[in-house]
Amino acid sequence: MSACTWESGSLLPLSLGPSVCTTRSVELRLGAACRPVVLAKDKNKLVILSEAKDLIVQSFAKASPSSRAKCVASLRLLAYHLSTPLRSLCGKFSPSPPMNTQPLAISPTDRLFLLTGAGVSAESGIPTFRDSNGLWCNYRFEDVATPTAWRRDPQLVWDFYSMRRRDAAHAKPNPAHQAIAALQHRLDRLFLCTQNIDNLHELAGSPRVLHMHGELFKSRCESCTRPPFDDAQLYQPPAAIPRCECGSQIRPHICWFGEVPYDLDEIYAALDACTIFLAIGTSGTVEPAASFAAHAARRARTYYVGPEPPVNLRVFQQCFLGKAGQILPDLFAAP
Ligand code: APR
Repeated sequence: MSACTWESGSLLPLSLGPSVCTTRSVELRLGAACRPVVLAKDKNKLVILSEAKDLIVQSFAKASPSSRAKCVASLRLLAYHLSTPLRSLCGKFSPSPPMNTQPLAISPTDRLFLLTGAGVSAESGIPTFRDSNGLWCNYRFEDVATPTAWRRDPQLVWDFYSMRRRDAAHAKPNPAHQAIAALQHRLDRLFLCTQNIDNLHELAGSPRVLHMHGELFKSRCESCTRPPFDDAQLYQPPAAIPRCECGSQIRPHICWFGEVPYDLDEIYAALDACTIFLAIGTSGTVEPAASFAAHAARRARTYYVGPEPPVNLRVFQQCFLGKAGQILPDLFAAP
């Protein structure tokens, strides 16, 4: 890799993999000064979009060699965090293929663990949680997705999930769900674990889906041992919360913040056995799912698919940057 110096005012001499399409807002330290910078990809260059770019370049020219070196180091770090293709410049990783994603190499002895998150349903019109205009931009999860919220105001929580149920009831599986289902029909040794509570994997034809955070179209009693049951009613808000035969309230069959996700023993057994781990459309912020990749990385190849690098990027060997509905059909194409 050539030395990381400024080039023609604003371009850095870093060539990027063509699948990098993200912009990042960062703070760049130059000596004592901290400058906000927006980085983006322009053709195959890393570009500074910040209005302050001239100032940054001037400061860089005036800076001492040691603070320039620090700045270059932080740029390398930024490049590392920006995308996997950039990491290839450090000689460690090969860039994701440009336009056409090559099929994932899967041998007959491989065992796959697929972890999906809200991003896999985004192209079906179901909002994610943490993207701009995601659910947690419009609601506080403390108000609608915790046991305390349920005790404090069960009607609010019930109505929140009734709205989500209505949205999900109108959604249709997209090419990402379909590609996953087709792969599952081809491979027995595929464990599909989703954090999503919609039923789009099932509607796409996935035969086995583990919903670690529960299911929108199931309910259960808040206190007795009656098992969770199918519940497709739409409960137009403000509908009264139904009662169990035992007299207690029925609650959504959802794992709220502060509760333990479902079937963790089965999940960890599958993680221990897998040789390929692939996370799709999940920001890597919520535990324990955020740590699954690191757990699997001890023996498995690890991949990520999504339009932006996740928070836990560093545990993935390769990132396929793009929408799941565009990448997965190629990635899972029969060789
Ligand atoms: N294809 C793939 N990924 C996408 C797409 C797409 N078309 N659109 C958005 N994404 C990515 C975003 O870049 C983001 O990284 O999906 C991710 C969604 O992240 P979150 O909103 O944090 O959702 P998720 O990781 O599934 O959240 C985990 O948090 O609130 C809880 O219980 C909730 O299960 C949820 C958990």
